[in-house]
Amino acid sequence: MNTEKEIRTFHISTYGCQMNLADSSTLAAAMTARGFRRVSDEKRADLIILNTCSVRDKAEQRVLGRLGELAGIKRKNPDLRLAVVGCMAQRLGDGLLKQAPQVDYVLGTDRVFDLPDVIARANGSRRVMTALGRNDIDTIAPAPETPYSGFVTISRGCDNYCTYCIVPFVRGKERAHSADFIIDSMKRLADRGVVEVTLLGQNVNSYRCRGTDFPDLLMRAAGESGVRRLRFMTSHPIDLSTKLVDVMARCPAIMPHIHLPLQSGADRVLKNMGREYTIEHYLKTVEYIRSRLDYVSLTTDLIVGFPGETESEYEATLEAVRTIRYDSAFMFRYSVRPGTAAADYDDDVTEDEKIRRLKKLIALQQEISFACNRREVGRVRHSLVEGTSRRDRDYLRARTEGNKTVLIPAGDLHEGDIVRVKITSADAFTLHGEVEGTCQ
Ligand code: SAH
Ligand code: SF4
Ligand code: F3S
Repeated sequence: MNTEKEIRTFHISTYGCQMNLADSSTLAAAMTARGFRRVSDEKRADLIILNTCSVRDKAEQRVLGRLGELAGIKRKNPDLRLAVVGCMAQRLGDGLLKQAPQVDYVLGTDRVFDLPDVIARANGSRRVMTALGRNDIDTIAPAPETPYSGFVTISRGCDNYCTYCIVPFVRGKERAHSADFIIDSMKRLADRGVVEVTLLGQNVNSYRCRGTDFPDLLMRAAGESGVRRLRFMTSHPIDLSTKLVDVMARCPAIMPHIHLPLQSGADRVLKNMGREYTIEHYLKTVEYIRSRLDYVSLTTDLIVGFPGETESEYEATLEAVRTIRYDSAFMFRYSVRPGTAAADYDDDVTEDEKIRRLKKLIALQQEISFACNRREVGRVRHSLVEGTSRRDRDYLRARTEGNKTVLIPAGDLHEGDIVRVKITSADAFTLHGEVEGTCQ
């Protein structure tokens, strides 16, 4: 006899990047379609799902900490079921059950959407599934992220093997979806009221499927999908083509924002990272982007304290940041990832030194971000209304073309409206503006 308490409700917590956010939305849709109900209060969930990230040790420690708390809750409520899915499930597999025996289901990155089936079949027993390499994982149509925006995954996995990075190991080889499939997914989102879609891939610029490259795909998306605003993430500097920039210059639906991870400003470090470009190549790319686009917001990722990074190589990163003047940046301390090529290098920059380098870099970037924001004052930016300001309910939060947050008086605007906003003032992190009118 099956004494298993039936799972009716579930809760998802998401760690990591936008691809995980997208996967969580799709998983939630797949679960809901099978009769499970999503709840926002974890305490009311029969099943708690953690969609996890392995990119840095800290990301994994956060999940392990959370699992420790959940073990306590499960002792009081033994019927509670726990699922760990995504990148950390992929990396640790069975090993995760040894560290966290309270977990019931461990599903790797290509198995996430199997969760409803696994629950139906598991009948109370625990399951670990981590086989990689499927091509059919995105057969479930992506669900909107918000009523007005969504993600569409154009490719999964990565073939770059940057020496510090765990992603190729946990996400597998690069597999691209066909342009028809992607456009169809976008149309379905547009039909549900979505006005902005972000196309996702670890390296969107290497996208290629049956003769369609990434700029071709963007052109088709702008022309055929019915989605009004398009964004994309992430660009690898070695694959970003002049053709892409030219398409951006021609298509106003493509938002003028490029996230172009630099990682380091020193050629020797870039080489040891396996990044395949030089700082000169990167600067030329930036020059071309800025010469072709009247306005563009540039953002990046940077790592300090990579093995062997000298003081002068670190200074080269600061210098690159001063020269390029990014609108914003994600900045990290190098974290050893087991199994990667760099894990064999001597992690010789001390933790204190990494912290010092990171602090100084963040301070420099904050000054530059503030200056970039101040330059926005007086400009008019088409902005998508996202919701009410967290601090003041008389204001709405909107996202500018360049992916900056702008606060505007609430008036009678609604989530999902696209409005022309004149920027009136700027803080280090936020802009303030007045609405001049709506965009048709
Ligand atoms: N595919 C994307 C994102 C990869 S992960 C890309 O190629 O840009 C996001 C960022 O995390 C990376 O750009 C890098 O800056 C950082 N990162 C990856 N591995 C890391 C590690 N081992 N230690 C510190 N930062 C890391
Ligand atoms: Fe990681 Fe490099 Fe692939 Fe990005 S391009 S996911 S940093 S291996
Ligand atoms: Fe993390 Fe996996 Fe994304 S390792 S950064 S959640 S692809």
